[in-house]
Amino acid sequence: MNLKGTNNEEQTELSKEESRYIRARSRKLLFSMLSPMNRRLGLAAILVLFSTSMRVAGPALIALGIDWALPQAIEGRTGSLWWVVLGYLSAALLSAVLVYYFLMITAKVSQKMLFELRNRMFVHTQKLSIEFHERYTAGRVIARQTSDLESIKELLAGGMGQLVVGLLFMLFTAIALLLLDPISFLVLLVSLLPLGILTRWFQVQTNLGYRKQRVASAKLIQYFVETMTGIRAVKAFRKEKRNEAHFGGLVEDYRGYNARLIQLFGIYDPGLILIGNITVAAVLLVGGLRVIDGDLGIGVLTAAILYAKRFFDPMEDIAIFYNSYQSASSALEKISGVLEEEPTVPEPQEPKPLDRANGAISFRGVEFQYNTGPVVLKKLDLDIPAGQTIALVGTTGAGKSTLAKLISRFYDPSAGQVELDGVDLREVANTDLRREVVMVTQEAYLFSGSVADNILLGRPGASFDEVVAAAKAVGADEFIRSLPDGYDTDVNKRGGRVSAGQRQLISFARAFLANPAVLILDEATSSLDIPSERMVQQGLKTLLADRTAIIIAHRLSTVSIADRVLVMEHGEVIEDGSPQQLASGTGKFAKLYKAWKDSLV
Ligand SMILES: Nc1ncnc2c1ncn2[C@@H]1O[C@H](COP(=O)(O)OP(=O)(O)O)[C@@H](O)[C@H]1O
Ligand SMILES: [Mg+2]
Repeated sequence: MNLKGTNNEEQTELSKEESRYIRARSRKLLFSMLSPMNRRLGLAAILVLFSTSMRVAGPALIALGIDWALPQAIEGRTGSLWWVVLGYLSAALLSAVLVYYFLMITAKVSQKMLFELRNRMFVHTQKLSIEFHERYTAGRVIARQTSDLESIKELLAGGMGQLVVGLLFMLFTAIALLLLDPISFLVLLVSLLPLGILTRWFQVQTNLGYRKQRVASAKLIQYFVETMTGIRAVKAFRKEKRNEAHFGGLVEDYRGYNARLIQLFGIYDPGLILIGNITVAAVLLVGGLRVIDGDLGIGVLTAAILYAKRFFDPMEDIAIFYNSYQSASSALEKISGVLEEEPTVPEPQEPKPLDRANGAISFRGVEFQYNTGPVVLKKLDLDIPAGQTIALVGTTGAGKSTLAKLISRFYDPSAGQVELDGVDLREVANTDLRREVVMVTQEAYLFSGSVADNILLGRPGASFDEVVAAAKAVGADEFIRSLPDGYDTDVNKRGGRVSAGQRQLISFARAFLANPAVLILDEATSSLDIPSERMVQQGLKTLLADRTAIIIAHRLSTVSIADRVLVMEHGEVIEDGSPQQLASGTGKFAKLYKAWKDSLV
């Protein structure tokens, strides 16, 4: 949970190649989402081309009306004028209807894309290995799902269609002006220079501003999530004041970047209007001189002025959408990064069948290190026959949990292999492995829902009677019945609060219902006080019977129910034998055992 180390993705400067790679990666993602909607997008393109042509036809029709139909009307022949007016109206109406359908289609496409992206993120992050989640904090995953998706949504819902309409409109307007009056077109062309400079400056500045703003907002979310998920530690260490100050600093940064963005808009918008007005004046001046000389019709001049004026209309929208485009594309870059992460423990292509495991575990020359860290397990060879109950003891950091995580295949060994009934775990299908190997940890996480739902997680589809039988077997039935709604009590609702010990019993019932061949308890009874532990001892015995069990425990009382004790130190098993053998020997365990015995009297 360190704040510094988790943000480097946003903070480090990327090399050219890296950023090219990232852009290609997010283009690929975009393409993969759009390509199934080819036909719809094609239809949308046709609609927008037609509707823009109709819109741009307006001023040209006005020129026709003034220079051709009006003189006829003055001479009494009004027919042409009617036709021109009718044409103008139909073009306007048709363009409105077409643009409506275009916007409807793009809105549907956007919604579909957003839905797809949200789903892919959820499914994918859930599928990723423990290794990913230990490296990529929950705060960052949440930032991807919330603020990043939000900025993509803003672009898609707010303006993708508008952006396309605006750009096409500018292009078509310029073409129409070129066809109608090339000299006015040249004047417009000159205006593109200041427009280009201003817009480029604006883009560079807002790009910078947006990037900073996004980093600041990601930090805010992350800090908030980490403070709230660690609220107990915050309270216990009276960290509220310091957190407040830190959070205040983050909010202030965020505000500062927003203020800068607002200022940039404050400069860009009036600049745009100014350039537009100067261009119109220039077209009027140049065109007016030519009208005086009789080189240009008044109608054409009117149309040219209208085109020059309307040319700048979409610019402001485009500039705004450019911003949301910027932040959406950087969000998409990050999301594509998460979607590209591969599970480090991949599902086998052709899994070896494993109908019902016996539960024999072997370590063959296993070595393990986390990522590029130090070696945590050194050359481990170990055979655990099916049905044996093992107590794994040793100092903190000896590698006990790591050994347990390897048996559950949360990680793959760096060298050698872990086998279940002689089959390398890498070749066992995930569903088989999850059914046969269950690990209960100290956390004993309860999901929202009823007590029965939480037990059912062990074996979805089990009957209610089986749930009750499982609870009875581990000694949880009595307290569950005393809850306000018994088995239907919502664990998150008032009255449904259960103590750490009760939570532990529920997770035992869950494991009992799952009925795995191999059960691992990693400090699972550590959160219980001594009376509660005594209470679960009986349940524990039932739970461990008829299966391979590995118990990692602080308290040596648990050792008495084991067939065999393994003592670990610095990633090695240094003692291995029955509890009686080891206790009567002269090793580490004997010392620990003696000290523990003495403490009891
Ligand atoms: N996710 C992890 N990433 C890097 N190192 C880890 C990780 N988990 C544990 N370690 C390191 O591996 C060693 C063994 O840890 P662990 O197996 O949890 O010990 P134990 O359960 O016996 O207390 C320790 O040095 C610990 O710092
Ligand atoms: Mg541990």
